[in-house]
Amino acid sequence: MNFELKIIDETKQGEAFAGAEKTENSKKLFLESYGCQMNFSDSEIVASILNREGYNTTLKPEEADLILLNTCSIREKAEQTVRKRLSQFKNLKSEKPNLTVGVLGCMAERLKTKFLEEEHLVDLVVGPDAYRDLPNLLKETEDGRDAINVLLSKEETYADINPVRLGGNGVTAFVTITRGCDNMCTFCVVPFTRGRERSRDPHSIIEECKNLWSIGYKEVTLLGQNVDSYLWYGGGAKKDFEKATEIQKATAVDFSQLLDFVATALPEMRIRFSTSNPQDMNVSVFEVMAKHKNICKYVHLPVQSGSDKILQRMNRQHTRSEYLDLIKKAKETVPDIAFSQDIIVGFCGETEEDHRDTLNLMKEVEYDYGYMFAYSERPGTPAHKKMKDDVPADVKQRRLAEVIALQGALSRKRMSSYVGKIHEILIEGESKKNKNQWKGRNSQNAVCVFDKTEGQKIGDTVSVFVHGNTQGTLLGRAE
Ligand code: 5AD
Ligand code: SF4
Repeated sequence: MNFELKIIDETKQGEAFAGAEKTENSKKLFLESYGCQMNFSDSEIVASILNREGYNTTLKPEEADLILLNTCSIREKAEQTVRKRLSQFKNLKSEKPNLTVGVLGCMAERLKTKFLEEEHLVDLVVGPDAYRDLPNLLKETEDGRDAINVLLSKEETYADINPVRLGGNGVTAFVTITRGCDNMCTFCVVPFTRGRERSRDPHSIIEECKNLWSIGYKEVTLLGQNVDSYLWYGGGAKKDFEKATEIQKATAVDFSQLLDFVATALPEMRIRFSTSNPQDMNVSVFEVMAKHKNICKYVHLPVQSGSDKILQRMNRQHTRSEYLDLIKKAKETVPDIAFSQDIIVGFCGETEEDHRDTLNLMKEVEYDYGYMFAYSERPGTPAHKKMKDDVPADVKQRRLAEVIALQGALSRKRMSSYVGKIHEILIEGESKKNKNQWKGRNSQNAVCVFDKTEGQKIGDTVSVFVHGNTQGTLLGRAE
């Protein structure tokens, strides 16, 4: 499983996982996921819905009765990878006429019926809010018809569905708390593919976390496109909050309250959250982080650009100085806090000066990690409709190389600041490189490897003295 909280490099193959499911099931599902952690989390909901329909997951597409790709639209390359993958199933489909191939997720939502017209291999197209309809849609495909449901919902949160945990380590899990996004950043396809923002009932979130604890999980990441915007009031979409009753308004729960509830209900569970948005995040979240030992001291806080002009063109609802002020307040409230970023280079109208503003903002914040991208124009977004994608590809690539190199240096610096100290590391598994070592993370989300000692096992939290580091990893020994 990929432990990065954000985008998995879409140039790589998607990842298929299998889980422990009903033994009496006879049909086989090959389910491959692309894109962000939300998609991986949704795949666990899909596996749960289909498990009830007689499907168990398999890692071998050739033995599957049903192949589903849970797709991403965030950049053009992500979509190209999925199209390539679909063409690889051509032979399988001709050998096995009863094989059903379906596309789920953001690309399904974006392309809708076009998918059935363009990709003749696809029998089934299902958007992110329509997974409950999968059993009906599969009946249609069994009758030889193509099936599609891409309706977006203002209410669907899949709150009552207990996800089948696919391919995890049994220690860390993702728990979805919000779906959709109302922010309308001009570069972004997500509001169109995942619809209006809505929050999940806090009781069902706490129940899911408690259930995970009871079966041995030690860390949860509360997941959403924009977690800080969480607002439960017993209604549907966040934008309908104004229409809520007085009682609904008085008893509404926001993100810092939810975080407080979860941390209090599960005092031994490590708690993380992702993704945060500077415009919606406020000091109360940092105060809750400071109050609870079990909330990890790490925030993924995308900035996208360090230039006010570009932030405005991106329709980010904050300035550079507001962002820096938020970081300053966070560091004052939670002194050992770590940050990571998302940055887009080469957005419409970005000059060398704007680019330099991004580089010097990075230096000012000193991020632990970063996820950096060249701007990729997405059809239908406000930027596509109103702005010119005018930064040449070679300039985008050069600027991307510069932000990546700078982030490398900053990561190295941050990692070396952890050296010489003792860190609490939650063991997540064996180190890939050395079977005699464990791999885990500290509160700040830095990966740490250290030699195994007798009596230790996956899921233990161990005090580790860090004696060295590479750019991305801490090297330690158990105390
Ligand atoms: N081009 C490049 N990167 C993008 N992102 C979102 N949309 C685009 C796009 N059109 C990046 C942003 C976001 C992350 C999930 O992906 O940095 O935070
Ligand atoms: Fe990709 Fe965004 Fe959809 Fe996640 S929400 S799968 S990143 S397009």
